[in-house]
Amino acid sequence: MNKEIRDVRICFVIPTYNEALNINPLLSRLTELYGDLDVAFLIVDDESPDGTAHLVREFMEKVDGRVRLIQGKRRGLGDAYVRGMTHAIDTLGADVIVQMDADFSHDPAAAGRLLDRIAGGADVAIGSRYVAGGSLDERWHAGRRLLSRWGNRLARWIGGLKGISDCTAGFKAIRAEKLREAKIESVQARGYVFQVDLLHRLINCGARVVEEPIHFRERERGETKLGMLNMLEFFFSVLLLRLRSHLTFVKFSLVGTCGVFVNLGSFSLLIELGLNKFLASPTAILASIISNFLMNNHWTFGDRAMTSRRSVRGFKFMIVSMTTLLLSYTVFVVLSMLFPKVLPVLLQAGGIAPGALLNYYLNSRWTFREASREE
Ligand code: GDD
Ligand code: MN
Repeated sequence: MNKEIRDVRICFVIPTYNEALNINPLLSRLTELYGDLDVAFLIVDDESPDGTAHLVREFMEKVDGRVRLIQGKRRGLGDAYVRGMTHAIDTLGADVIVQMDADFSHDPAAAGRLLDRIAGGADVAIGSRYVAGGSLDERWHAGRRLLSRWGNRLARWIGGLKGISDCTAGFKAIRAEKLREAKIESVQARGYVFQVDLLHRLINCGARVVEEPIHFRERERGETKLGMLNMLEFFFSVLLLRLRSHLTFVKFSLVGTCGVFVNLGSFSLLIELGLNKFLASPTAILASIISNFLMNNHWTFGDRAMTSRRSVRGFKFMIVSMTTLLLSYTVFVVLSMLFPKVLPVLLQAGGIAPGALLNYYLNSRWTFREASREE
């Protein structure tokens, strides 16, 4: 395995519900494969009635002390992962998290390839069924295949995960630092959609995502826990993901509208105070730019996990502001020469329109950039 991976602390996070038939073979295999790394194996069990937790504790005491167990009330897969990942980072000090199922659908040996991709510079390595080289168990019937395919399409088209082939994959290696940035603790999703929600957040905070082909095997023992209700949740939650992005746009427009009032208001006031209209115009533009920045920074993009530092953002905003000022003022001057008799406030409004468009474009794409995937 790659040298860099030997220098970081790795934590496997594995949720279980009634996996008594799988847990021992899985832990044996994982400790055998990865036992010589700086590693922990965290099982998140939610009161499995079949005694999974008891088996884990036994393994931990008799075979390998690096196996850990946390327990809680059963509130779904997403909830189990949130608790598990948070514990792995905050308490176990993990640098890299590997999430996987306990039922051997995810080949323990393939985790090494995911870790190698992280060592190669990725923030997130997805064990992907749908990239070239990846595959799905023959035993998956047509109905489940269709559901998975369409679930992925919805996640891409509506959820906004463009360019990702396997959006619902439950087998991933993720840098802890990115999970923290993505505010993992605030994920609400419970079923399959947890995977989509998490990926959405990671991409929004600029994570470099790669896909590594894997074979997904149907479980041999025990039964699946994700049912109809999770599929319903999936469709609604993917829609909500989209609305989350739209909300940002609505906020930006509202801020822009406020900016127009600040601009025209201060312009009229300055004219009223007797200032020359050619001086009142840039002053008013500047006032609106400053109020726009403050509102966008604290409100519109306030909850966006951004990669840039605030000082860098401020600097970029200043450059965008100057560009906007230049454009708005140029338009104002040109219009003033073309239509010298028109009411000054209308000329000023004519300058705002193209300036506002440029301002939106540059700020959303650059200053407050929702950093995107780079591969
Ligand atoms: N702690 C806990 N609590 N664990 C749970 C819960 C829960 O409420 N529900 C499921 N699990 C555990 C299972 O014991 C198993 O280890 C893992 O989560 C996955 O559950 P399965 O029931 O085997 O899910 P699946 O095979 O239908 O779905 C898998 O493939 C999907 C994509 O097709 C998972 O990897 C999904 O995350 C993935 O989206
Ligand atoms: Mn499974």
